[in-house]
Amino acid sequence: MVLKAELHCHIEGAASPALVEAQARKYGVDISSFIRNGAYYWHDFTSFLLAYDRAASLFRSPEDYALLAESYLTELAAQGAIYSEFLTSPDHAERAGLSPQAYTEALGEGMARAKAATGIESRMIVTGVRHFGPEAIEKAARFAASCGHPLVTGFGVAGDERIGHPRDFVRAFATAREAGLGVTIHAGEFGGADSVAAALDHIHPSRIGHGVRAIESLDLVRRIADEGVVLEACPVSNVVLRVFPDFARHPFPQLRAAGCRVTLNSDDPPHFHTSLAREYAVAAEHFGLGDAALAAITRTAIEAAFMDEKTRAVLLARLAREEKAA
Ligand code: ADE
Ligand code: ZN
Repeated sequence: MVLKAELHCHIEGAASPALVEAQARKYGVDISSFIRNGAYYWHDFTSFLLAYDRAASLFRSPEDYALLAESYLTELAAQGAIYSEFLTSPDHAERAGLSPQAYTEALGEGMARAKAATGIESRMIVTGVRHFGPEAIEKAARFAASCGHPLVTGFGVAGDERIGHPRDFVRAFATAREAGLGVTIHAGEFGGADSVAAALDHIHPSRIGHGVRAIESLDLVRRIADEGVVLEACPVSNVVLRVFPDFARHPFPQLRAAGCRVTLNSDDPPHFHTSLAREYAVAAEHFGLGDAALAAITRTAIEAAFMDEKTRAVLLARLAREEKAA
C-alpha cells in the first residue's frame, strides 16, 4: 500500500454521520434536517456549510472532541496515512460552549490516543472562518499565536471565499507568522484565479487550500510553479460541490504537469463520500497516477507540512524505505 499523508481536513467536517447521530442522542437533538438515512444531506455550498455548522454544534465537551480527533485519525491510519494536518475552528468550539484552549487540548488528547494506537503523526492548523469576518479571524490568529500547544503548528482561513478579501486578513496572518506558525489560506475553490492571486499577493502563504481554479490563468499557474507554492487539492470535494463537473475536467493533472506542487486531501470526507484513500484512488483512476507518482505526492505533503524538522526527517526516511521496498 502506498503510504499517504493529508494536509487539509476540517476536523468538524470529518465527523461521521454515525458519530454525529451518537452525539445527537447524547444531547437530545433532532438532526433530521441535515442527516438522512445515515448520510449528510445538503444541496449546495451554502447548505453544506450549514450542515457542517449543525454537526459541529453537537461536539460540546472535551471528551466529545477527543473522540472526534481519535476516530478520524485512527480511521486515517487504517487507510495507510502516516501524517495528518487537520484544520481546527475555535469559533465552532466557542459556539458549542467550549473555550478554544479546552477544545485544542481535547483534540490534542485524541491525537495522542490515535498516535499511541497506530503511530500516526498529526498537527493542528487553527483556522478563522472567512464569513465570520476579519475580527473573528484576528481573534483566531491571536489564539493560535498564544495557545502554546505544541501540536498547533499552523494558521489558516477557511469558510466562504465569496465573502471578504485577503487584504482584510493581513494583520491576522502577520500575528500567526510572528509566532512561528505556518500559513495557508483557502482560495481558488469558490473564487477564481483573481482570488488565488490576491491570496498570494496579500498573504504570501507557502500553501493554498484548494487553489485549483488557478488553472483559469496560465500566468498564475506559472507563478505557483515558480514560487513552489503547494496546492492542497481536494478533488472529490470539488466534484461533489460542483466546482468542476467531473474528474475528467478537474485540473489536477494539468497543474501537476505545469510543475505545481500538488497534494491530495479529503477536506470534509463523510460530507463528500470520500476518504484520503479514495482521493488517492481517484488520482490513480482518473488522473493516471501510478504508485511512484502517488508516493511522490505523499512526499510533497510531508515536505510542505508544518512540522519540526526532526519529525519531518523521520517521516521522509520512512517514505524512502517504503519506496525502496516497493
Ligand atoms: N469549511 C469546511 N469545508 C470547507 C470548504 N470546502 N471550503 C471552505 N470552507 C470550508
Ligand atoms: Zn477546506
